[in-house]
Amino acid sequence: MFWMLQSIRIAGGCRLKGEIEISGAKNLALPALVASILTSDRMVYKNVPNLADVRSLFDLLDCIGTEINYEDTHSVTLSTGTIKSATAPYDFVRKMRASILVLGALIARCKKATVSLPGGCAIGSRGVDLHIKALELMGAEISIENGYIEAKAPKGLTGCDITFPVVTVTGTENILMAAVLAHGTTRLINVAMEPEVEAFCELLNKMGARISGAGTSVITIEGVNELHGSEFEIIPDRIEAGTYAIATAITNGEVLLKNCKYDHLTSFFETLNLVGISCEQKENGVFVSHNTEEIRPISIQTAPYPGFPTDLQAQYTVLMSLCNGSASVTENIFENRFMHVPELARMGANISVHGKTAVVNGVKKLTGAQVMATDLRASVSLVIAGLVAEGETIVNRIYHLDRGYENLEEKLSNCGANVERFNV
Ligand code: EPZ
Repeated sequence: MFWMLQSIRIAGGCRLKGEIEISGAKNLALPALVASILTSDRMVYKNVPNLADVRSLFDLLDCIGTEINYEDTHSVTLSTGTIKSATAPYDFVRKMRASILVLGALIARCKKATVSLPGGCAIGSRGVDLHIKALELMGAEISIENGYIEAKAPKGLTGCDITFPVVTVTGTENILMAAVLAHGTTRLINVAMEPEVEAFCELLNKMGARISGAGTSVITIEGVNELHGSEFEIIPDRIEAGTYAIATAITNGEVLLKNCKYDHLTSFFETLNLVGISCEQKENGVFVSHNTEEIRPISIQTAPYPGFPTDLQAQYTVLMSLCNGSASVTENIFENRFMHVPELARMGANISVHGKTAVVNGVKKLTGAQVMATDLRASVSLVIAGLVAEGETIVNRIYHLDRGYENLEEKLSNCGANVERFNV
């Protein structure tokens, strides 16, 4: 397929009003779909988001030997009767670093794996050293050759206690998949507690794993001999929901975020309430509304769950760019996640970055401009800025957006936004 560069044109000045259907969570769908490698039985997945990252993962799983059949746009069955290839080539992993998740699953299923190192990423070094160290503690023999992780565990893996020095989401998920079929008990300490990790443990238990402590900082896994097929529904994407909550707030709108669960974003919604934005759990989602001009300056620091999510930092920075005063936004998870700042400055924002902290001095308005997306969440923050800016904004390189937002223009247009995608 000819790969075409596309941009989005946004006319500022709309008030978002209506309903937005939140799609399945990208950061659960990716590990959940990889878990299909752990069994030769058929897996049935519901509410799978239709995203570029999911399609990239399907290309990799197809190479590994998984048969993939779409029942409908959001339902898919995966069967990995046999492993055709225990290799994740560089070309896949460089495009989608979550491909590293096949490492633990392949070692668990076929006692070996060859997975390309992901390499750098726009938002930071994002090493996988903790994934590798944990597997070595479980008995895997690992060497790094020509940019690849060569892993072997001819006798299988052995459970043990593993303490993570840093909370790592995919690190937790990778080792969970290694441990479910290991000999004996594995205790993971200082693990990620994200809702996606908790739901992932629920999936593995539905497949016959014996995991306890999901959602806390210590997870215990009793290894079993094999896992069986299961059916699983992906939970709503809290980061997509949080993104649209900010788009609603900044345009003085009122939107029902359908299927969103308030308690998946408590820290975030409580921050928005402090800013002066109303966020309420309703029966079928969270209702967000903002009808005063005031955006109170509230400083935040990103942290692992249940703290303020790093994946909503760029979007929040845009909101603070119009605050009545000055707020600081501190990024504690990644070392280079302020690439949206220079682009926002071209739209009139007044933000200065000092190490991990961006000091945002509120301005009266933003003005439309040509801007460039650099990573998934930075790109959507530029769309949000375009919704409220005076005049027209063009966001280039929007392939970043398509990795994590399903039908973004349609969802925004249905709430009154003037947004259109065009080929460059
Ligand atoms: C997951 O990435 C998410 N991706 C990211 O979402 C999210 O930003 C991140 O967790 C933090 O919440 C998926 O779940 C697919 P980490 P992950 O390992 O697992 C360091 C998005 O926009 N670290 O929790 O790769 C690392 O450098 C994406 O949807 C090591 O040093 O993140 C980072 O500073 C972006 N060594 C910190 O830990 C390791 O071995 C947290 O990273 C692993 C991580």
